[in-house]
Amino acid sequence: MINISNRLKTVASIVLKQQTEGIIDVGCDHALLDIYLLQNNEDLKIVASDLREQPLKSAKKNIEKYSFLNKIELKLQDGLGRLDDYIDTVVISGMGEETIIDILNSGKENLKQVNRLIISSNNKFPRLRKEINEMGFVINDERIVYEEDKYYIIMEFIKGNKKYNKKELFFGPFLLKNKNDLFYQYFNYLKDVDSNILKDIPKDSKRAKEIINEIKILDEEI
Ligand SMILES: C[S@@+](CC[C@H](N)C(=O)[O-])C[C@H]1O[C@@H](n2cnc3c(N)ncnc32)[C@H](O)[C@@H]1O
Repeated sequence: MINISNRLKTVASIVLKQQTEGIIDVGCDHALLDIYLLQNNEDLKIVASDLREQPLKSAKKNIEKYSFLNKIELKLQDGLGRLDDYIDTVVISGMGEETIIDILNSGKENLKQVNRLIISSNNKFPRLRKEINEMGFVINDERIVYEEDKYYIIMEFIKGNKKYNKKELFFGPFLLKNKNDLFYQYFNYLKDVDSNILKDIPKDSKRAKEIINEIKILDEEI
């Protein structure tokens, strides 16, 4: 079995937990995720795409090494491109929230055929939840991963119309209902970050007020 990070293993376990016809891995880079997915389910149809030629070259080399060249279609393109009919799942992993939102917004037409989005960013989770919820998706699963001194939240969205309140957008509706050790670890870490920023800025500034409010919200749940 190919060796991949815990973050990518978590993305994969969400992809694999239900029947999927075809996935596109947008920004595949090395395509390690796609190789791992095929090693666990040889029937998956996978498109691995990237904006740049160099990552696609390294993807091709890795895919060749594991003899999956006839199983993964490589595409050089920006964002979702034009999705093949069999694609029902979109994975966007390892990008900032702005890029993820841009990719989804500019591929809105394409999203009609998509049942699931699996999103892995390492920042601005509340904004991601809000924007993707407004595109007609709800959160079906969320998992926190701590790896190499960084926290990641991997989110699975499915089609739906429920609107979330501020607290749900901040903590994640799924995480709030399933608080585990990592939940407390991550949100205590956020509180420490906030408290440290607060030490260095004027107490009556707008930013300080926002941070004080955030600490209050955090204290109610952790
Ligand atoms: C940090 S790598 C993440 C690789 C892998 N998905 C992961 O999670 O480890 C980000 C990749 O996304 C690609 N990328 C950035 N913007 C993109 C876009 N608009 N469309 C397609 N690929 C993009 C980059 O070229 C890069 O290879």
